[in-house]
Amino acid sequence: MAKQNDIFKKGFDEGTQIKLHILQKYLQEWLPVFLKKKKKFWKDISLYDLFAGEGKDAEGVNGSPLIMMEELMPYCKTISNEKLRLNVLFNEFDKKRYDLLKQNIEEKRLACSNSELCPTPKGCILNMVVENQKFKRLFSEWFPKMKQTDQLPRFMFLDQFGIKQITEDIFRQLVSLKRTDFIFFISSSFANRFAEQPEFKAYLNLSRQSFDPAKPHHCHRVVFNYYKQLIPQGTEYYLAPFSIRKGTNIYGLIFGTHNPLGIEKFLNICWNINHNTGDANYDIDNEKINPNEPALFPGYDISNKLQVFKNELKEKIINDEITTNTQAYRFTYDMGCLPKHANEVFRELRNHKTISRDFRTCTSNVHTLTEEKLK
Ligand SMILES: C[S@@+](CC[C@H](N)C(=O)[O-])C[C@H]1O[C@@H](n2cnc3c(N)ncnc32)[C@H](O)[C@@H]1O
Repeated sequence: MAKQNDIFKKGFDEGTQIKLHILQKYLQEWLPVFLKKKKKFWKDISLYDLFAGEGKDAEGVNGSPLIMMEELMPYCKTISNEKLRLNVLFNEFDKKRYDLLKQNIEEKRLACSNSELCPTPKGCILNMVVENQKFKRLFSEWFPKMKQTDQLPRFMFLDQFGIKQITEDIFRQLVSLKRTDFIFFISSSFANRFAEQPEFKAYLNLSRQSFDPAKPHHCHRVVFNYYKQLIPQGTEYYLAPFSIRKGTNIYGLIFGTHNPLGIEKFLNICWNINHNTGDANYDIDNEKINPNEPALFPGYDISNKLQVFKNELKEKIINDEITTNTQAYRFTYDMGCLPKHANEVFRELRNHKTISRDFRTCTSNVHTLTEEKLK
C-alpha cells in the first residue's frame, strides 16, 4: 500500500478534501442544534478529534482540528454569555505531529483572540485538551466518563489511517453513547485486499467472500454492512456510508447517530455531493447519469439505488408492512435516502388513492412528526 502518512507534506488530495468538506458541513449543522436552542438541557458540549494530525497541510489548508476551531468561533459569545462548557479533545500519537498540532492550535487561538468574534481575548473560552496518546488507550481511559454522562451532546471524528482502530468493541462502545454522533474513516480497499489474513481478523471479522470481486468499487458498502450488522437488534440507530475514491483505492466514511435529525443532516450533505446516489464521490453504480442531459427514455434518469428504494417503500406500504409516516421515514433513512424521495412515493400512492393524503417532513425530520397512519 502506498505510504499514506505523509499526507501533510504532500498536501491534502481531493479525497481528503471531500472528507474534510463533509466534516465541516456536518459541524455547521450539528453545532447550532445544541448551541442555538433557546432552552438547553445541558451545560457541556464536547467535540473529539482523536486522530488529529498536524492541524494543517504544508500548503496551509486546514485539517480537522483547525476546521473544528473555526466552526466553533461564531459560537464563542453564546458559550461565554450562557456559561456553557465547550470541551474539545484533540489527540495525536506521533510526537512530531503532536508538537506541530500544539503550535498550530496556539497560532489559531492567537488569531481568534484578535477577532471581533472573541468574547474573552485574554483567555480562550474553549475548554481544550491536546493529548499525545495511542487512540485505544486514550479511548479506554475516557470512555467510562463518557458513558456516565452519555445524555450530553458529543461529536467524534475518528480519522484513522487504515482499518485497525475502529474495532468491533470500539464501534459497539460508540453506538452505546446515547447522544454521540460520529464520523469515522476507513480504508475499505485495504479491508477488501487483506480480509483473509489472520492478522487482519484480529481487527475486523470480515471474510473475503463478503466482497464481490467484480465490484471492487463497492467495497466500502461491504465494510459499512459489516458494521451495520453489529448494531444490537431493536436499537433505534442510524448509520450511513460515504465512499471516497482516491486513485485506484476506495476509502470511506461511516456516520452514526441515534437521532433522525442527525442522519437527515448527514444524508443531505452527501446527496448535495452526489445527486444520483448520495453515497460516493464517484459514479459508484457505473450508471453514467448526467442530470444536465435527460435520457431518451423515462426511468433512465433515476439511479438504481433510488428506484430500488421507491419500489420497496411502495410495496411495504401496499402490503401494510409500513403503516405510519414515521416508519416510512425511518425506512427511508435506513436506505440512505431523503424524505423528499419518500414524499415522491407518497404523492404517487395518493394519486392512486392507496393512501389518504400526503405526508411531509417539514424543514426538519421525523423527530418532530406525530406518528400518523398512512391509510
Ligand atoms: C489521516 S491522519 C489525520 C488527519 C487529520 N484528521 C486532518 O484532517 O488533518 C491520521 C493521524 O492519526 C495519527 N495516528 C496514527 N495512529 C494513531 C494512533 N494509534 N493513535 C492516535 N493517533 C494515531 C497519525 O500520526 C496521523 O497524524
